[in-house]
Amino acid sequence: MFLRNCWYVIAWEHEVPADALLARTVLGEPIVVFRAAGGYAALEDRCCHRLAPLSLGRKEGDSVRCGYHGLRFDAAGRCVEIPGSDRVPPQARVRAYPVAAKHKWVFVWMGDPAQADERLLPDAYSNDHPDWRNRPGYLRYETPYLLICDNLLDFSHLSYVHAATLGGSTAIAQARPTIDPIDRGLRVSRRVPDVPAPPYYHRIRPFAANVDRWFVYDFVFPGTLLMSSGGKPAEQAEPDPANSVLLHSCQTLTPETETSTHYFFQQSHRADAGDEAVTEGIYQSLVKAFNEDRDMISAQYRSIGASPAAAMLPLAMDSALVRYRRLLEEAVARERALPAQPGPASAAR
Ligand code: FES
Ligand SMILES: [Fe+2]
Repeated sequence: MFLRNCWYVIAWEHEVPADALLARTVLGEPIVVFRAAGGYAALEDRCCHRLAPLSLGRKEGDSVRCGYHGLRFDAAGRCVEIPGSDRVPPQARVRAYPVAAKHKWVFVWMGDPAQADERLLPDAYSNDHPDWRNRPGYLRYETPYLLICDNLLDFSHLSYVHAATLGGSTAIAQARPTIDPIDRGLRVSRRVPDVPAPPYYHRIRPFAANVDRWFVYDFVFPGTLLMSSGGKPAEQAEPDPANSVLLHSCQTLTPETETSTHYFFQQSHRADAGDEAVTEGIYQSLVKAFNEDRDMISAQYRSIGASPAAAMLPLAMDSALVRYRRLLEEAVARERALPAQPGPASAAR
């Protein structure tokens, strides 16, 4: 069940080489991405001639040449050259996906190209804002993306999965988040007063006494988390950049297939609070923690697969993820009710 009329991150901008091709599968569709005309192009990664992957060919200026028999395609997917032939038939083309780049993320629109709307791109500002600093990350999961959405919508797991990294206190699981509806998603706010600073805070600044922590994030379609979080000395009313930790994180999940997922993430600190060692320390803490998540969710997925008939037990802590799954189901149902719904093999050919 995937929402199609939606922007999905296919790559960080730095992952798309200047003079070569990047192959990545999104929603089960193989796509080749390359730089063209000052921006990006995203084409079906399957030559219309004998169906070889275009990503095994090469980039030539703003076009891509198939590595098998040399057909050349422009950024719109039109074949513009067939070696040994004076004529290019009009059906010689591959699907081109609408593509956009914003705040260092490269997005593809997987639905009806006529509905691609750049106003729907998320405001992942800390990815490249001069006031914030981060090292961007990528992980691949061999699990369905909704299990990872579930994880990101319930931070009670920080107390257990991340006890030695991002968590550090069982009070996180005891705190009740508030959940508010927003456009295309939910806002989740969790405040955790008077707890020990988590282990990774000490990479940023030492805390001798307890801190008040907060996590406030928007979680929006298709699976994008935009979060302000931090910690301040517990005895102090307001956070002060001089003695508090202020973080902003942007994370997004892109289904690769029904059972595998791309995960693009970064957690930024204020540029004036810490040097490159701090940036690197936060990144290493995050990678360690996200491997903890991946280990748990992968094991959960294996357990589900081993007993597909076993029922889950809904609890209060599942509220945000249950609501988000329902929102997504409703959006997918609305989309499927639209006339001329584009399918994987149609549209723009
Ligand atoms: S398969 Fe691409 S040119 Fe023949
Ligand atoms: Fe986690």
